[in-house]
Amino acid sequence: MSSAPKAGGSNGGADASVEHPGIDPGLVETPVGYVDLERTRANARAVGEYAAEHGLRWRPHIKTHKSRRIAALQLEAGARGLTVATPREAEVMATLTDDLLLAYPPVGAEKLGRVVRLAASVDLNVALDSAAVLRPLAEAAAAAGVTVGVIVEMDVGLGRVGVSGAAEVLELARAAAALDGVAFQGIQFYPGHIRAPLEEQGESLRRVSDQVAAVLEALESDGLGPEIVSGGSTPTLWRSHEIEGLTEIRSGSCIFFDREGLELGVVEAGGLAYTVLATVVSTAVPGHAVIDAGSKALSKEARGGSEGYGFVLDHPEVLVSGLSEEHGVLDLDTTSWRPTVGERVRVVPNHVCVSVNLQDALLAKDGGVHEWISLEARGRGPWSD
Ligand SMILES: Cc1ncc(COP(=O)(O)O)c(C=O)c1O
Repeated sequence: MSSAPKAGGSNGGADASVEHPGIDPGLVETPVGYVDLERTRANARAVGEYAAEHGLRWRPHIKTHKSRRIAALQLEAGARGLTVATPREAEVMATLTDDLLLAYPPVGAEKLGRVVRLAASVDLNVALDSAAVLRPLAEAAAAAGVTVGVIVEMDVGLGRVGVSGAAEVLELARAAAALDGVAFQGIQFYPGHIRAPLEEQGESLRRVSDQVAAVLEALESDGLGPEIVSGGSTPTLWRSHEIEGLTEIRSGSCIFFDREGLELGVVEAGGLAYTVLATVVSTAVPGHAVIDAGSKALSKEARGGSEGYGFVLDHPEVLVSGLSEEHGVLDLDTTSWRPTVGERVRVVPNHVCVSVNLQDALLAKDGGVHEWISLEARGRGPWSD
């Protein structure tokens, strides 16, 4: 029986991935996250080409895969710099690039210490939306003798983080420009409220573009024209260029895609690069089959008002209609397929990032060869190479 290397809690060794040409996926214990590397590379190439065509930089958010192996593949496909959300992700990815955006406010002395230490060896920009985050960051950076770039986060409709409106952006940008230890570099926003099908996004994108334009005008008239205007999501990926003034996109899920991307028309079925490999463990109850991928492998995240938690790749008419921790219920009312106990299935989850984060390692297929991919950036503790 092949088994996954340990990853996540410890550094799991320095190798980003270990090749085991002898792995037989039929013998690997399930459930396990399963990656098609050929599709992954094709996705990375497509995004890299789109960004280059529109004069945008692709700085992928690595929270989707948390793996140096996959990040390296994105950089090979033309990504420039990487986006992270946690100090652990930043520490791991600093081994691959010297250009990082921490797209999440670092609060607390412990996080600040880790972030500032990194700024000694990489170009580090940090997104934030308050003076309460800016001031301690500037103090810690100045005390360490480094300069951290500041990206002011603005809310364009998601209502999660970010200041609203040009006046507030300008106030924080001025504060950053005036403090030692930090330098104002630009603005960021995440258009996560736009989850309409690709062809229906025009009006929402126009509104975002207008908001960004107003902010840029205010900054430029104050002599604070930004170097970086960072946006992008996977649902809006292919229409990112409709936002005037954008310099980079952080789209992340597009490296693997998921059920949401498929339903929004952002990807075709052939681009789905991540599934959860699972085994049918019961067919005793009429009308459904049970697999060993429950909420602890797929996550219970609902997306876009669609029913269920994922679908079977080879039988897309079959939804995962219910989940307990270790049980996934396949609804067979919609299909003539009758799976048997022991049969293997691959499930496309609603939201790939949370499913990947539930795995110890990913089993990856590259042509006829399988390998294990470590998820070094999972977990919270400090990373050292
Ligand atoms: C701040 C930020 N940037 C970028 C991303 C990547 O977005 P997506 O997964 O839609 O590509 C996310 C996703 O949640 C995010 O929160």
